[in-house]
Amino acid sequence: MRIDILTIFPEMFEAPLSGSIVGKARERRLVEINVYNIRNFTVDKHKVTDDYPFGGGVGMIMKPEPIFAATEHVLHEAGGGPARIILMTPQGKTLDQDMVRLLAKEKHMVIICGRYEGVDERVRQALVTDEISIGDYVLTGGELPAMVLVDAVTRFVPGVLCEDALVSESFASGILDYPQYTRPREFREMAVPDVLVSGDHEKVRLWRRKQALARTLDLRPDLLEGVPLSREDVELLDEIKREKLADLTREDPGNEYD
Ligand code: ADE
Repeated sequence: MRIDILTIFPEMFEAPLSGSIVGKARERRLVEINVYNIRNFTVDKHKVTDDYPFGGGVGMIMKPEPIFAATEHVLHEAGGGPARIILMTPQGKTLDQDMVRLLAKEKHMVIICGRYEGVDERVRQALVTDEISIGDYVLTGGELPAMVLVDAVTRFVPGVLCEDALVSESFASGILDYPQYTRPREFREMAVPDVLVSGDHEKVRLWRRKQALARTLDLRPDLLEGVPLSREDVELLDEIKREKLADLTREDPGNEYD
């Protein structure tokens, strides 16, 4: 996969794209990530990338010409094949794991990082294929959102992570992760649950599934609406609910007079 990032702050990308899993994926040529300075695609003496809004108003708007020129340059360089041209904007569709999985199948992504009060509307009209937000809050620009998108998508590029990691993680199965522990077995009087050191794989599997379901019921019950639940899951959920009820009545014995 090839990802081209268009920004007026290319230096912001140095550390996130060179370290850790993304850096290794680039070294191994599993993904090609290029960062282009939009300013280099201006044609005026002062390399201006923004201007005042027509009709008045506060803030500056990113000019269309350098963004079009930069995009056309990278499309040409990539051989002119199909590409997703993505504008990072709080007005876009909110990024989620399904979207990430689909984008990871693309051959070429161009990511435009908006700045200031916005981007000239003609960029949206005639260039952009997708508008993506990373959440309902406003950042100072699209650079951090672009890093989030690149990181999330790179994990799904074949060969970057081992298959098991992707299958077992949160959201892969539609529910939250089970709790994980590592050494030491006891830390500040908090012990690792016995079942995890029992060596009984079936017991461990069942314990983990129950913990994942309990956590999801507690923190993100909405997720349980959208996932297919096995018979075992339904039984585990019943068990969790019964245990919760028993805990509640134990905590508040006054209930027995209700
Ligand atoms: N630019 C500014 N805020 C943003 C957000 N929440 N998502 C994507 N791009 C943005």
